[in-house]
Amino acid sequence: MKNLTALQVMQDAPVIPVIVLNDLAHAVPMARALVAGGIRMLEVTLRTPQALACIEAIARDVPEAVVGAGTVRSRADAQAAAMAGAQFAVSPGFTPAVGQACRDVGLALLPGVATGSEIMQALESGFTELKFFPALQAGGAAMLKAWSGPFFDVRFCPTGGVTLQNAPDLLALPNVLCVGGSWLVPFDALAQGDWARITELARATKNL
Ligand code: 3PG
Repeated sequence: MKNLTALQVMQDAPVIPVIVLNDLAHAVPMARALVAGGIRMLEVTLRTPQALACIEAIARDVPEAVVGAGTVRSRADAQAAAMAGAQFAVSPGFTPAVGQACRDVGLALLPGVATGSEIMQALESGFTELKFFPALQAGGAAMLKAWSGPFFDVRFCPTGGVTLQNAPDLLALPNVLCVGGSWLVPFDALAQGDWARITELARATKNL
């Protein structure tokens, strides 16, 4: 998808999988497993030495997937993610520098916020679709309800502590378009090459 917007990233599926890959060999079969289960918007976090190579492999070999970079914390991260073929970026917090860097390299950004002041800073930089992180730890659904008054024009992707069980309550809120979570790609499923399990988890999520 070309010139993806943050809104399109959020509206594609009810859940954005937050993925940590330690082995390049896992990237492509993992991405194919998620796509087979109906989830194609994939956030590969820049938390491991292999992350950029994994993004590159998915972008090259799994055209049905839309791969993005998570844990984008700096201008350099944004540039490296775009070079690797990422189509969107997710950051755990927000700085105007990261916001500008993503604009400069043409990456849609979902910036992370956890307070009213951070939301206001993101709005000042023109971002209205935001990740609420760490969502459950920072107030969960009650916080999102409180924000719906003053921040009536903001849409959120709560991430952090979200599970298949608590996701429906979050998704029912009018200011929540999707949620993010790591549960779709468990470490043991990756280690065992249990791609069928990842497809099953994606399927269960798709029907939320
Ligand atoms: C993260 O960035 O680590 C995500 O928020 C994932 O959180 P989770 O493991 O609680 O889903």
